[in-house]
Amino acid sequence: MCGILGYTGDRQASDILLSGLAKLEYRGYDSAGIAVMNEGKIKIEKNKGRLKALEEKIKSSGEGIKGTCGIGHTRWATHGEPSDVNAHPLWSDDMSVVAVHNGIVENYREIKNMLANHGYEFYSQTDTEAAVKLIDFYYRQEKTPLRAITQAIKKIEGSYCFVLLFRDYPNEVWGVRKDNPLIAGQGKGESFLASDVSAILQDTRQVYYLDNMDIVQLKKGVVRFFDTEGYAKHKELSEVTWDAQAAEKGGFEHFMMKEIHEQARAVKDTFRSVFHNNRIDLYEHGLNDEAIKNLSQIYIVACGSAYHVGAAAQYVIEDLAKIPVRIEMASEFRYRRMPLDKNSLAIIISQSGETADTLAAMRLAKENGIKTLAIVNVVGSTIAREADSIFYTMAGPEIAVATTKAYSAQLIACYVLAIQFAKVRGTIDETYYEYLIGEIQKLPEKIDEILDEKERIREVAERFVNSRNAFYLGRNIDYAVAMEGSLKMKEISYLHSEACAAGEMKHGPISLIEKGMLVAGVMTQKNLYQKIASNMLEAKSRGGFLLVVASRGCESLKDDADFVFHIPETDEHLSASLSVIPLQLLGYYVAVARKLDVDKPRNLAKSVTVE
Ligand code: AGP
Repeated sequence: MCGILGYTGDRQASDILLSGLAKLEYRGYDSAGIAVMNEGKIKIEKNKGRLKALEEKIKSSGEGIKGTCGIGHTRWATHGEPSDVNAHPLWSDDMSVVAVHNGIVENYREIKNMLANHGYEFYSQTDTEAAVKLIDFYYRQEKTPLRAITQAIKKIEGSYCFVLLFRDYPNEVWGVRKDNPLIAGQGKGESFLASDVSAILQDTRQVYYLDNMDIVQLKKGVVRFFDTEGYAKHKELSEVTWDAQAAEKGGFEHFMMKEIHEQARAVKDTFRSVFHNNRIDLYEHGLNDEAIKNLSQIYIVACGSAYHVGAAAQYVIEDLAKIPVRIEMASEFRYRRMPLDKNSLAIIISQSGETADTLAAMRLAKENGIKTLAIVNVVGSTIAREADSIFYTMAGPEIAVATTKAYSAQLIACYVLAIQFAKVRGTIDETYYEYLIGEIQKLPEKIDEILDEKERIREVAERFVNSRNAFYLGRNIDYAVAMEGSLKMKEISYLHSEACAAGEMKHGPISLIEKGMLVAGVMTQKNLYQKIASNMLEAKSRGGFLLVVASRGCESLKDDADFVFHIPETDEHLSASLSVIPLQLLGYYVAVARKLDVDKPRNLAKSVTVE
């Protein structure tokens, strides 16, 4: 997590840094800070809390911060509580070295002890301060930033991305990354470093994607790269095609609502990216027919909502393509010692492409000789670059911490894989293949049809403003959607919510049902309508308020539910794409009614780059 920035050029650095940090605040907002170099001095302003507070502090100081070279940070705390002192940038004792950091220095205690033996003292509780002072320690011996950085990274363990100023090197910014994202931007007479592209898109579209262990030096309009031995390294410049407007709110009150409304487009674009001449074409994704036929097992590995996509995909792939699928939480998978099938495919799902657990799980699969296919949204992210093959979702930049459009785009990617695997392996015929493709193409219109009725969800959501607990129930694909609906509710509205496979209720969770408690049921699988209906009625007889999201035509609870929302019919394998929409809206409207910060829920960050 944490958003970091660097700038050098002819413009006032503080303006560039503050506006860039606003785009990165989704990565963490425990504190914010900037450091700007001017006439041989580095001035730092930082504080606990949001970027707004920092802007006001700088504005109220009257003179602002002058200088055309600087670094900035927005923090998601790992070591050391959110506080002014632990806010970045952090500095060495005489301010020779000033740095911002994203990641975790795992051996910071050891480094601190070593430095303490050389007379260093520490003022913060952060792991970052140890790293800054370690760089300072080598800088004093080696005399150049490059040599100091190459020495320090030999000692530092963990994941990191540092962006640094060296007081004796005016107009230069330095950076280095390991397992955390960093891109460099090239402008006319100016250059940039940032955790992601959205922060610099208003200034340049020419970017370099740093690889692990790349060291970068910025001078005005010049970007140079070095390897860990200090040798110069060539990198290709890329052009970013994302629309800067896409990263703005576009008239909606929150990014989350804007992104909910972008789902039809995300679904359409993702499908179109693999649909050529009326056929699904996965050739560019490294999946030829022979590879597909040889598969004996699929592992789907992901975290959070991406895991919920995998949970839905498991049912779809197994039913259509008849390949056994194991869905694995990346944080568990990475430490399991399970025997892995060599003829398998690991499908890695991640919006950010930077989630630490997912990345580690993917590396583990690769080490075990398993082919990896990553479904990723952020172009050039670490997972995208390290996977054997890559399926980009076309959701565009997702800003709200609670994912919606990336989730929907990931589902499409999974359907495409399932359908193509089934076709190649002969488990579905041409007629059904064409029917499924036609149904996918109709999803965008159906999603918009559901959104046209969002007012109904807003009205019912208001009932739960003061609720403390909720249950989401489903079976099969509907259970996967119940998990996602429940996560949406709890992560943004702070209403405690649990998803339960409906048949499991009676084995314990049912004791939690109280009068008026929200019990949301998902019903899209015809053969299971009656089964879920019975479980919902068990909840009702204990006082639950039954809210049902059901396919049009499902009448099972029409007289017993307190609220029914019908979604358009589709092939049952694709139903998650529709049933999730009312549940996203439900979570959103409860959070809005509770007057919470929907786009930046407490304790969370968009991209989870720590374990
Ligand atoms: C969902 O709303 C969450 N913000 C979270 O669960 C997220 O899906 C998870 O952290 C995985 O992120 P990724 O897709 O970027 O890997």
